[in-house]
Amino acid sequence: MYKITIIAGDGIGLEVTNGAKIILDKLDLDLSIQEAEAGNNSFKKNGITIPSETIKKAKKADAVLFGATTSTPNEKSPIITLRKELKTYGNLRPIKSFKGVKCIYNDLDFLIVRENTEGLYSGIEEISKDKSYSCALRVITRASSEKISELAFKECEVNNYKKVTCVHKSNVLKKTDGIFKESFYKIAKNYPKIVSNDYYVDAMAMYLIQNPQKFDVIVTSNLFGDILSDLGAGLVGGLGFAPSANIGDEHGLFEPVHGSAPDIAGKNISNPSAMILSVAMMLEYLKEYELCEKVKNAVEKTLKEKKVLTPDLGGVNTTIEMSKAIGNNL
Ligand code: NAI
Ligand code: MG
Repeated sequence: MYKITIIAGDGIGLEVTNGAKIILDKLDLDLSIQEAEAGNNSFKKNGITIPSETIKKAKKADAVLFGATTSTPNEKSPIITLRKELKTYGNLRPIKSFKGVKCIYNDLDFLIVRENTEGLYSGIEEISKDKSYSCALRVITRASSEKISELAFKECEVNNYKKVTCVHKSNVLKKTDGIFKESFYKIAKNYPKIVSNDYYVDAMAMYLIQNPQKFDVIVTSNLFGDILSDLGAGLVGGLGFAPSANIGDEHGLFEPVHGSAPDIAGKNISNPSAMILSVAMMLEYLKEYELCEKVKNAVEKTLKEKKVLTPDLGGVNTTIEMSKAIGNNL
């Protein structure tokens, strides 16, 4: 039996995790599901965006599913806290085109591997007493840079990709990204059959728009990975399709790339695909490979059929209706 903790969060996190539950119910899988609180609703109720009880439940689970939370001023980000607490150092963000979806490119298949625990999201930020000066610390360690590069090359091998591209800004951030780039090429030496190269992040933003087919695996630091993965999602039709896995040595946390989407929250019109594809990534992590394929195929089929779709896909259906349609296609 697998113990799964679901942290729905708030906004569309609540809707898309309901979609995920529809899929989990339909799978032939022995599950014990427990729910845990986080986000704005938790802050209103408990005075804290991520209660320690939630962190405990996440640590005890075999895998965690996370919806999305709205940021609360001056309070901790639940997802960043969880990534750190669970030591999920690697964020895998596949960018894949789906047939039938209106998008900029319909032939993309690449993977962003983002360092998940340090960089500009290390959480070390200060403001002076008179509020005239503020600073954030960009922590880059050799240990984490080597570990994330190792993960990128391993993912390249497992998924039969041929190339790993390191993205950085070492011409300006000479020390921090100096370490990041050096660590990448140190690990690359252990993978002589895989092509390795690197680009500055600004140039990379252009290449990803002009010629994204030339990339297989992209490895980068925390903030750059965050930005480039939304850019990648935009290339294949939007954030409704972008799933992600946060992987560590002991824990796995699975979540859509998108946030709580306050502009559409509460209307039950959010696209559940990214969340349901994150369930597929969780199944892969749990080594339930057949079920993982089954879920991915059901999403693909539903998108291709174009019968039951949410408004972002040009449809008129609700999150739950589309989730049920995916469930019926399992
Ligand atoms: P967002 O990802 O929530 O939304 C960006 C745009 O994409 C919006 O127009 C939204 O309607 C659309 N969108 C996102 N997911 C969608 C889906 N499943 N179906 C259809 N359309 C979808 O990013 P935004 O607006 O920048 O941030 C909103 C809030 O979410 C903020 O408070 C932010 O801090 C938080 N956030 C939370 C994250 C998390 O919990 N992991 C990640 C990113 C943002
Ligand atoms: Mg983001």
